[in-house]
Amino acid sequence: MTAQDSMPPVTIAEAQSGGGVVLQRVVSPLRPYYEDASVTIYHGDACEILPQIRGDVLLTSPPYGVQENNMVERAKHKYGGNPDVLTRQLLDTLATANCKWRFVNVQALAGNKRLLWQWIGANSDRLKDVIVWTKENPPPQMEAGVLNCAFEFIFCFADADADKRKFGGMEWQGTVANVVRSAVSANEWAKYHRAAFPEWLPSWVVANFSKPGEIIVDGCAGIGTTLRAAKDHGRRAIGVELEEKYCEIAAKRMAQECLGLGVG
Ligand SMILES: C[S@@+](CC[C@H](N)C(=O)[O-])C[C@H]1O[C@@H](n2cnc3c(N)ncnc32)[C@H](O)[C@@H]1O
Repeated sequence: MTAQDSMPPVTIAEAQSGGGVVLQRVVSPLRPYYEDASVTIYHGDACEILPQIRGDVLLTSPPYGVQENNMVERAKHKYGGNPDVLTRQLLDTLATANCKWRFVNVQALAGNKRLLWQWIGANSDRLKDVIVWTKENPPPQMEAGVLNCAFEFIFCFADADADKRKFGGMEWQGTVANVVRSAVSANEWAKYHRAAFPEWLPSWVVANFSKPGEIIVDGCAGIGTTLRAAKDHGRRAIGVELEEKYCEIAAKRMAQECLGLGVG
């Protein structure tokens, strides 16, 4: 029996905005895998759960390659066996999530670049800005004649203000650049997930693009690096993760004492 099975279903309040408070809305009861005063984690498929959730800022890093995360195996039973359909469905779900701004971190690789640019084309009306994360120590390519992958994209999608690059309500001026630079992996929990965010990245997004008390959503939450950054900055967070083994680590991480990074 999973933790999910053992918990009673919980119906979460209808969406309301007012006084800066936005609660999530679900159309049918969802059972959290983990819940505390500021973080909720759902174990399941973002394509099914995310459309039922409302937040303020989404930050997520979906699987890049079609071979990952049971994509091929799951596609065998659905989608006529085509894993690209599954990947595209996930990417579209993330780009259109019920959050004011949706930051989606992806890397263009040989196996996904066609799909990626088709996705960007289809969502171009929502594309607000692009952030580039460059790596100081990119892993060297094993094959001759192939460039080392030294950067990743963080695409930002929005609805109302997508045609403008201004992030309304943010107070910084001239101090936040659209290129961030760092070494590859800096996450003390990285041994539990080979594709975890470096901890500074969600911390940087949360600090610069959200306000205290807002809800940060991660649709592919992994071991909860985004959720942890949200909690440490005094935000609330909702995560969705397909693999229970990662939900379990994320839940352990949430239960740790807060760093209390404050209102930044
Ligand atoms: C690149 S990892 C994210 C890691 C995360 N940023 C962290 O720091 O731990 C992508 C995650 O998405 C999850 N995933 C893949 N497909 C999913 C889906 N349809 N719904 C929810 N999660 C999914 C994978 O299991 C994996 O943990």
